[in-house]
Amino acid sequence: MELDVSEVRKDFPILGTKRSGKRLVYLDSAATSQKPSSVIDAVGYYYRNYNANIHRGLYGIAEKATEAYTDSKRLVAKLINAESYRNIVYVRNTTEAINLVALSWANANIKKGDTILITQMEHHSNIVPWQLLAKRKGAKLDYVGLTKGNMLVDMDNYREKLGNNPRLVAFTHVSNVLGVINDAKLMSSLAHKSGAKVLVDGAQSVPHLSVDVKDIDCDFFAFSGHKMLGPAGIGVLYGKEELLEEMPPIFGGGDMIRSVSFDGSTWNELPWKFEAGTANVEGGIGLGAAVEYLNNVGIPRIREHEKKITRYALSKLAEEKVSVYGPGSVKDFESKKAGVLSFNIKGAHPHDVASIFDSEGICIRAGHHCAMPLVNKVIGEPAAARMSFYLYNDEEDVDRAVSTISKVRKILHIS
Ligand code: ALA
Repeated sequence: MELDVSEVRKDFPILGTKRSGKRLVYLDSAATSQKPSSVIDAVGYYYRNYNANIHRGLYGIAEKATEAYTDSKRLVAKLINAESYRNIVYVRNTTEAINLVALSWANANIKKGDTILITQMEHHSNIVPWQLLAKRKGAKLDYVGLTKGNMLVDMDNYREKLGNNPRLVAFTHVSNVLGVINDAKLMSSLAHKSGAKVLVDGAQSVPHLSVDVKDIDCDFFAFSGHKMLGPAGIGVLYGKEELLEEMPPIFGGGDMIRSVSFDGSTWNELPWKFEAGTANVEGGIGLGAAVEYLNNVGIPRIREHEKKITRYALSKLAEEKVSVYGPGSVKDFESKKAGVLSFNIKGAHPHDVASIFDSEGICIRAGHHCAMPLVNKVIGEPAAARMSFYLYNDEEDVDRAVSTISKVRKILHIS
């Protein structure tokens, strides 16, 4: 059944607000998503009714908070088809999840001369931790190139680079700039055949696509709560149990231990071994509420809706003679592109474009999108403007955005 966006929009209080006297148009969900009332209320209800520290208090509200936090991990595990909540480590965000793998598994397993393979379409969060690690270890960081035009991962180049037997392959599931959807299952299976472990950055996929970590068969999968209708400050690292078991913790302190003596410590069971100190309880509870909301609407319906909006936006942008980076043609877009459209208006700096959009009450992102190598070197621009869609966007949002392009040209005297 098709998504009824006017009903969905009623669940998001911010979308009922106005900017410059007009309905707010929010086209920056790749940066962060808006929050439905059920998520806001779940966090408020926790603070009003059962705020307590988890895993510590021997009283009713502490037990309730502990249960709610663990239940949210069960919901997350089910959403991505993980075995159990034991595979779900809560961190602050995708960046922290990737850094955890770099500082723990990779630090213990990557040696001088080893190769880490990533792609040219990675977000800084999937580049910088590996640059730091490679420098520390004397390892090599290598990049798979992209195809010309469509900017997909060049699979011939990928196969060739796998021939160097990297120890780790890390790639994004969906590009936050190009909207490219990578074939994570195929890339993971090829990497495993070459003997590598696989980490997938799912920050832009979990909110929008059905994700099955068992089917992808990755070793690690990282994503953020705030991009999937949940609160900021809560993110997820999924790991295969045997790997999480063998990995040393990177933060020490309360809750992550089984026992502590003056001579040393032993570690708590999974996933708590990696969660030192008081947890982000409200974040976990809010994320659980977000997963329930997504389940109620249905991720496949969200995906279909985003396909429709993206198709519509692509055709409207084409009428305005604005082309998007990456697989922009309607044919390619169906299987290879998510609802992320980066573009430039010839003769206009994207920061000016975003400011003029803002004067119309339209939020878009402009800049290098935390992917400087991709934007500056592969696309070859200092910056780009970007619209990104979610379940609450409709054709009216697209029409408002596209009609602002002529205003941009008029203000900036672009013929
Ligand atoms: N990674 C986020 C974005 O693409 C912040 O905007």
